[in-house]
Amino acid sequence: MKLNGKVAIITGAGSGIGRATAVLFAREGAKVVVADLVAPAGEETVAEIQAKGGEAIFIRVDVSRAAEVEQMVRAAVETYGRLDILFNNAGLTLPAMVTETSEEVWQKSIDVNLKGVMLGCKYAIPEMQKVGGGSIINTASMLGLVASPRQAPYCAAKGGVVLLTKQVAIDFARDNIRVNCICPSEVDTPMHRKFIAESPDPEATKKRLLERIPLNRVAKPEEIASTALFLASNDSSYITGVALPVDGGLTAL
Ligand SMILES: NC(=O)c1ccc[n+]([C@@H]2O[C@H](COP(=O)([O-])OP(=O)(O)OC[C@H]3O[C@@H](n4cnc5c(N)ncnc54)[C@H](O)[C@@H]3O)[C@@H](O)[C@H]2O)c1
Repeated sequence: MKLNGKVAIITGAGSGIGRATAVLFAREGAKVVVADLVAPAGEETVAEIQAKGGEAIFIRVDVSRAAEVEQMVRAAVETYGRLDILFNNAGLTLPAMVTETSEEVWQKSIDVNLKGVMLGCKYAIPEMQKVGGGSIINTASMLGLVASPRQAPYCAAKGGVVLLTKQVAIDFARDNIRVNCICPSEVDTPMHRKFIAESPDPEATKKRLLERIPLNRVAKPEEIASTALFLASNDSSYITGVALPVDGGLTAL
């Protein structure tokens, strides 16, 4: 088991990529702190892990609020005694062109997608320093690397996550804390399905999203989870400060 004895916090673990990763990390021996804004969803993830014989607790958190993120880290350490891995994965998309973007929409996208990552790093790093190192993985997006129609608030936030990842990586490399981010393209999660369903022409949107992916399919959440496992484990021990596309070839075009 690749994460035996490790303690991992996963935000946004009530759904999609976060849930798949929580289940995988627990299977690999980690004690998992399932953190999410939505309690019933997070509790379902914990129940799934426990039903499979794994170890997990749920903590409700809004990643955009400093006091709640600080409390999330404190609860993880009080419960399991240490912190080794943080997967800053919670996020949301609020599609809009810049001319349609209200201040509220802009602020929400930046607060959850970007500030949430900063706060996670801020409170987790001192705990990782205490145990001699750690691994932080952030979920950015291919939209942190390239643009896409009507995604101004999301692209701005995810682009920020990519460079924040590199910046934090160099500040804390000497503490043996590795910091990397994953840049998925399309992943079959509730977020992805909602984006298609709420677009003006769902069938056309689905076709447009698929056409630009060389592998010609969307990813399964488990394919992002296995990348997170690689970055969390010693298999990636010399990798820090990278933005890794897991995108079916999209950003190679
Ligand atoms: N699905 C995709 O195609 C795709 C592609 C690229 C990047 N991403 C990114 O992957 C990450 C996970 O997305 P997903 O597709 O699994 O989405 P999802 O909607 O299935 O899951 C997101 C989870 O985050 C939680 N969350 C939202 N706001 C929160 C907050 N303020 N505090 C705590 N938790 C909060 C939600 O409750 C939900 O459980 C996001 O950062 C997203 O931007 C997704």
